[in-house]
Amino acid sequence: MEAFYAVILAAGAGTRMKSDRAKVIHELCGKPMVNWVIDAVKASGTENIIVVTGHQEDQVRACIKEKVEFVSQNEQLGTGHAVMQVKPLLQGKKGTCLILCGDTPLITSETIKQIVHEHNDNNRAMTVLTAIFEDPEGYGRIIRDHSGNVRGIVEHSDATSEQLRIKEINTGIYCFEIDYLLKSLENLSNQNDQNEYYLTDTLSIILENGGKVGTTTLGCTDEMMGINDRVQLAWAQKILNRRIIEKHMRNGVTFLNPDSCIVEHSVDIGRDTVIYPLTILEGNTKVGQNCIIGPNSKITDTLIGNNVTVLNSVTIESTIDDDTNVGPFAYLRPGNQIGKNVKIGDFVEVKKSVIGDHTKISHLAYIGDAEIGKNVNIGCGVVVVNYDGEKKHKTIVGDNSFVGCNVNLVSPVEVKANSFIAAGSTITEEVPEFSLAIARSRQTIIRDWVIRKGRLRGKKPEE
Ligand code: UD1
Ligand code: CA
Repeated sequence: MEAFYAVILAAGAGTRMKSDRAKVIHELCGKPMVNWVIDAVKASGTENIIVVTGHQEDQVRACIKEKVEFVSQNEQLGTGHAVMQVKPLLQGKKGTCLILCGDTPLITSETIKQIVHEHNDNNRAMTVLTAIFEDPEGYGRIIRDHSGNVRGIVEHSDATSEQLRIKEINTGIYCFEIDYLLKSLENLSNQNDQNEYYLTDTLSIILENGGKVGTTTLGCTDEMMGINDRVQLAWAQKILNRRIIEKHMRNGVTFLNPDSCIVEHSVDIGRDTVIYPLTILEGNTKVGQNCIIGPNSKITDTLIGNNVTVLNSVTIESTIDDDTNVGPFAYLRPGNQIGKNVKIGDFVEVKKSVIGDHTKISHLAYIGDAEIGKNVNIGCGVVVVNYDGEKKHKTIVGDNSFVGCNVNLVSPVEVKANSFIAAGSTITEEVPEFSLAIARSRQTIIRDWVIRKGRLRGKKPEE
């Protein structure tokens, strides 16, 4: 395909979002709206991408890591005015310029290729991508003459009641011959309901100048959806999420109830992994092969090996190595490195800790700022007392140690390898290798105390 320029309009505020953030940086499946458009344009085969920014310019530009040229539109006086700002970059250039809006994140590279092809093959001055919408509310309508030739675009707020019945809409995606585009921009006026310079008016101006205008109409209308409010945002997110999950399913991942899961664009999943319902995989997350994730799990920025199970749990910024089981109801907070064949059982919270291979933390424990060795058993109710009210301290437990139930490890403290800690102990000093530590008072029995004190709560045994 011939090289072409692409202009993406992303300067508007998006008032209908009712948001403190610019519309085009609202995220869908973990990627800002405008980045979906940029990625589709890139994948269609052009490197010459110009993005028009204005409202919250710094924040919008900060979201865009790809190599693009930025142009400022300091006052947002309409889509036509936005393209006028690009004039200095296009002046003197020949060929095709694709223009699209930063608020149509569902557009695919295939569709972009198609409109550019049709535009070039038919030697047109302008091609408009149109769609047929059952509910065309809010969109510009395509006006045709009796022979079906396109004559113009009328915005919703300027349309007559008769025009409002037209179901063919302007998707906001166009191809222009650069000469015709630049010439038509000079003749735009803002004499309309919104007092804006409409890019859509270029169509009738180009016809007046003798240019050939045509349309490309696509069957699938999802793709053409422009996002103006939160209802449309939710719909678009659902469609993108479905596309992402279908890609994983085609690569050999099973989803038991795909519509109940959310998977961000950046996630990798290995084959034969099964994702149970109500699971969210987000950020820089990689899941290996043969894992079982979910139900009800939220996995954020987590690197998971092979044959791992994560059941009903939350994991953040952690790594989990092969053959390890997490959950049900575990909470892995940021900074953990969990080894191979480890068990992080029910109601266990782990933070900023290293857990060695084959170690078991089966139930009801808190492990924070700790280094737990290999093949360690952490009993039920063990708490690492890592915080003294001012600072966090570190605890180390050596390989093959056994920490009994309800032990407090008051940090900083070290339990050397191959040692035992008796249940209920509060450990404040180093435990040497091969030793048993007991740190609790001995049990005392006071015989007949209940009878002498008159504290019997039932009948006397001899009665
Ligand atoms: C626009 C079209 C409409 C089409 C619809 C498709 C016009 C006049 N109307 O309407 O025919 O059916 O898209 O979704 O073009 N923007 C700027 N600067 C501005 C104004 C807008 O950069 O001054 C950008 C916005 O950030 C947005 C895009 O242009 O990404 C579209 O603007 P928006 O206000 O949403 O246009 P619509 O009213 O939806
Ligand atoms: Ca729009």
